[in-house]
Amino acid sequence: MARSKVIVTRQLFDEAQRLLDAKKDELEVVQWPSEKPCDRSWLLEHAKGATGILVMLSDKVDEELLDAAGSQLKVIASFSVGTDHVDRGALKSRNIRLGYTPTCLTDAVADLTIMLILMAQRRGGESISMVRNGEWPQKPWHPLLMTGPQIRGSTVGFLGFGRIAQATLKRLLPFGIKKALYLTSTPGKPVKEDHFGLVQEAAIPIESATGADQLAKESDVVIVGCALTPSTKHLVSTDFFNKMKKLAVVVNIARGPVIDTDALVRALDEEQIFGAGLDVIENEPNIQADHPILKQPRCVLVPHIGSATIETREQMATESVKNVFAGLTGAAMVNEAEL
Ligand code: DGY
Repeated sequence: MARSKVIVTRQLFDEAQRLLDAKKDELEVVQWPSEKPCDRSWLLEHAKGATGILVMLSDKVDEELLDAAGSQLKVIASFSVGTDHVDRGALKSRNIRLGYTPTCLTDAVADLTIMLILMAQRRGGESISMVRNGEWPQKPWHPLLMTGPQIRGSTVGFLGFGRIAQATLKRLLPFGIKKALYLTSTPGKPVKEDHFGLVQEAAIPIESATGADQLAKESDVVIVGCALTPSTKHLVSTDFFNKMKKLAVVVNIARGPVIDTDALVRALDEEQIFGAGLDVIENEPNIQADHPILKQPRCVLVPHIGSATIETREQMATESVKNVFAGLTGAAMVNEAEL
């Protein structure tokens, strides 16, 4: 019997690679051979006849790819929690299942969110640059040197209040924050899933915001953790920044286009807000070295490393492979997205 063809758009590691290799008799595994992102032309060429495709968040899954693969395609497994690179409607209409990895990366991304909040409030990027640029001797210890807002007593606003946002809140409670506000697609309504029993039990108020305006006005820290959709694109733009407090910071661990980068540059230039911590940015990774955001001392930008712990990435790889296998056999996936 002919082996099913599975495309994998990266080299995987350890257990995930072993799982794939162990299926060589049943599956024809075609794997992108380089460490660099998979070429679109390679993917389109090799997808022909595939039954399963394991993709990264940098691989667009659209009608073009599905057409190139053909009608036997049963499963897409994405090595990510975000699925904005996948045309879910196209999968649904073709009865193709979608696997993803929303649970195993929660801790890693929540940890990085805390890092970015502290970097933004405590001027981490600016402080490191000052030392590296040899400016410390000219700017020695001073009562006001590199002072920034304190996390204790902050109101923290979450745009999107899913698992990662809630895990971040859990980490923030011991810092002594005063209040949490969240905005979901149903403003003013209680959150659908209280993943860690926090909303019921926390000793501080955790409230559903009536809208983006309330969240912008009241928050000392704004955390962008929502999915990128047509209605969240540029949700954080000039109007939002104009309502924020001057000492507030914004952190984005979701997708770049939720924040309008030009508006963020203006808000920082005009000291409309205090700082920003970004794991993601519009048009990443193609940020030119002379981009104005890179000249903002109060903006810390890291290269989309939210889930980049060794343990998490291994788990994501293993779960993605298991999701492909489940999609091929009709079994339950580790995590399957609702289409
Ligand atoms: C994902 O996997 O979608 C996230 O961007 C991890 O940071």
